[in-house]
Amino acid sequence: MEKIKEKEKEAKTEQEEAAQVVNPWEVSSKGKIDYDKLIDQFGCQRLDQSFVDRVHRLTSRPPHIFLRRNVFFAHRDFNEILDAYERGEKFYLYTGRGPSSEALHLGHLVPFMFTKYLQEAFKVPLVIQLTDDEKCMWKNLTVEESKRLARENAKDIIACGFDISRTFIFSDFDYVGGAFYENMVKVAKCVTYNKVVGIFGFTGEDHIGKISFPPVQAVPSFPSSFPHLFSGKDKLRCLIPCAIDQDPYFRMTRDVAPRLGYNKPALIESLFFPALQGETGKMSASDANSAIYVTDTQKEIKTKVNKYAFSGGQDSVENHRKYGANLEVDIPFKYLSFFLEDDDELEHIRKEYGSGRMLTGEIKKRLTDVLTEIVERHRAARAEVTDEMVDAFMAVRPLPNMFN
Ligand code: TRP
Repeated sequence: MEKIKEKEKEAKTEQEEAAQVVNPWEVSSKGKIDYDKLIDQFGCQRLDQSFVDRVHRLTSRPPHIFLRRNVFFAHRDFNEILDAYERGEKFYLYTGRGPSSEALHLGHLVPFMFTKYLQEAFKVPLVIQLTDDEKCMWKNLTVEESKRLARENAKDIIACGFDISRTFIFSDFDYVGGAFYENMVKVAKCVTYNKVVGIFGFTGEDHIGKISFPPVQAVPSFPSSFPHLFSGKDKLRCLIPCAIDQDPYFRMTRDVAPRLGYNKPALIESLFFPALQGETGKMSASDANSAIYVTDTQKEIKTKVNKYAFSGGQDSVENHRKYGANLEVDIPFKYLSFFLEDDDELEHIRKEYGSGRMLTGEIKKRLTDVLTEIVERHRAARAEVTDEMVDAFMAVRPLPNMFN
């Protein structure tokens, strides 16, 4: 009897595993994403409270909401970055975006908001890769269109408030060459076809552009790819904030780094920002009603939240008062846990809404206000970003005070 139960359990986990797909190009699952399983499967570590406390101590400033709320929930060697920092050694940050769409949604902003905080808190330089080449190959965009989108997206990224004296933004089409390309070739020589198929799941039908792309995303992890910034600093450590779907690229990078005499990059990895319809994957840029865009008006935000945000509230006021909301599946509550700064207020909502004293309409109203404020702030900041500023961030130049 026990045996049979064991068997059933095994079969179930296999099925569940098959139902959950997470890689840089696809995030899908039948139910909720099982992040614990992902950590096991990828081989990264959970980011526990001791890290939050340690960052607080080392930076002497309150930890970012995404740290406090465990939005960034996994890491690789983040402890080594902090050890080194504590010894007085600096590091640099590396993140990026594949410019596949004109308008960004809130999920796209998550890693950039967090990276901005890290840059400010640790006072370190940052490189931001715009993989226009990647999107040209995967999304079937023309070279020109990918490059145009990269510049448009750069404006949204700059609007997050990065410090120009510590930030270099580059597009692959413009920047790949020189020392960067030399590193790409070194990486490519270390990775067999079998290996890349194992990590990324490419098939014989995929064009060779895709198969040869991973070194492009790998090498910004190595300081020598940026001679104008880090010349003579080959041992400088790199920390990559990203959503966990990017992990395969950096598993590959970490695997080859020691063979090339480089440090392995460290990672700090986030959950996906769920779609309005519920927590089954990350928000899709192709379904306008599944996401809040940074270009949405207050009215659009209100309509989307009221109409599409999946509610864990009960179907009648009577039942809601009696049973309370199911916070596990409730999207307004989930979104507030990403964006409502006030810990006490969130706790209050958890109690009141969870017990049924607060109604779905009320939590949705609060969420609409919170999101509208963020979107309006972003819109105002983006309106200030000129083409000259984009050129300035993207200029290949030294950053003399990047560690001060
Ligand atoms: N591949 C990423 C995307 O499609 C873009 C990217 C490039 C990136 N380098 C990165 C993301 C480093 C995070 C960290 O969005």
